[in-house]
Amino acid sequence: MINRRKFITKALSAGALTITPGILRSASRSFPFIGTSNDLPVIISTWNHGLEANEAAIKVLNNGGSIVDAVEQGVWVPEEDPGNMSVGLGGFPDREGHVTLDASIMGPDGNAGSVCFLENIVHPISVARLVMDSTPHVMLSGEGALQFALENGFKKENLLTPEAEEAWKNALHKTGYDPKPNWENEPNKFHDTIGLLGIDTNGDMAGACTTSGLGFKIRGRVGDSPIIGAGLFVDNEIGCATATGMGELVMKTVGSFLVVELMRNGRTPQEAVEEAILRIVKKVPDHKKYQIGFIALNKKGETGAYCLKPGFNYALYKDGENKLFDSNSYYKK
Ligand code: GLY
Repeated sequence: MINRRKFITKALSAGALTITPGILRSASRSFPFIGTSNDLPVIISTWNHGLEANEAAIKVLNNGGSIVDAVEQGVWVPEEDPGNMSVGLGGFPDREGHVTLDASIMGPDGNAGSVCFLENIVHPISVARLVMDSTPHVMLSGEGALQFALENGFKKENLLTPEAEEAWKNALHKTGYDPKPNWENEPNKFHDTIGLLGIDTNGDMAGACTTSGLGFKIRGRVGDSPIIGAGLFVDNEIGCATATGMGELVMKTVGSFLVVELMRNGRTPQEAVEEAILRIVKKVPDHKKYQIGFIALNKKGETGAYCLKPGFNYALYKDGENKLFDSNSYYKK
């Protein structure tokens, strides 16, 4: 039976964000880590929901938690936020009206856990962690993942909020099948998967990735987020990477593993994520219809972020400051 403490988060409302063109959107604030190192820890995560997630992760480290605890509890924040329509509770359902969740986690020991096509559990990342910590397996799916969660003390909950249900009903009226998220039109409201990477003061790294996937997708569709090497990869000797956006493009290029292997071969995190995006551009013919963003972190605490087209942002906690940045993109519009 797991007994995870309910994590209380302080809301940092999306309305507090001011949209400033250029490298930095505000909502940054000083948030000291209680420790001795100037350079570490570093936490980096995808989209504007990453600001609160980073803050939660740093609090875990400040309270003596491990880097795996930090990445897990960091992503609890968007998972349990009913206003977040791309992760956990409140996520857009599939085209049959069911919210289905994918999540993965990796620790510094190379261990990994994931769940996919999981329903009715607010914190899929914690089920993924339990798969990692307490089984010899990496991935559980669907009914089996739900059974495993319930057997281990997780509670079954309705994840479909009235807002997400209304959006689903509106989507049913549209003709054609076009399940991409709507972040390009309203980037501060709609985002996508949260991927969160961290390195602690010992230089140990971990990552977590969790999503409700594409809104109104075909039932049974699973994206990149629970696929180790696609949506997330951590190699504690080298670095870690995670992805957001149209998961199929990341799966076809094993994106996060590619980023880490590029770092192993000497690329900086920034060079590595740019090369991974270039790989998608070269190898996936219909890539221009979609968005992909990668973030990466290496053993020195250096970071990188890059995306296919404008609109992707990421939250970076470094040197005691937690800030939101606009990522550079391959296409300029
Ligand atoms: N990147 C999330 C998904 O494609 O499901």
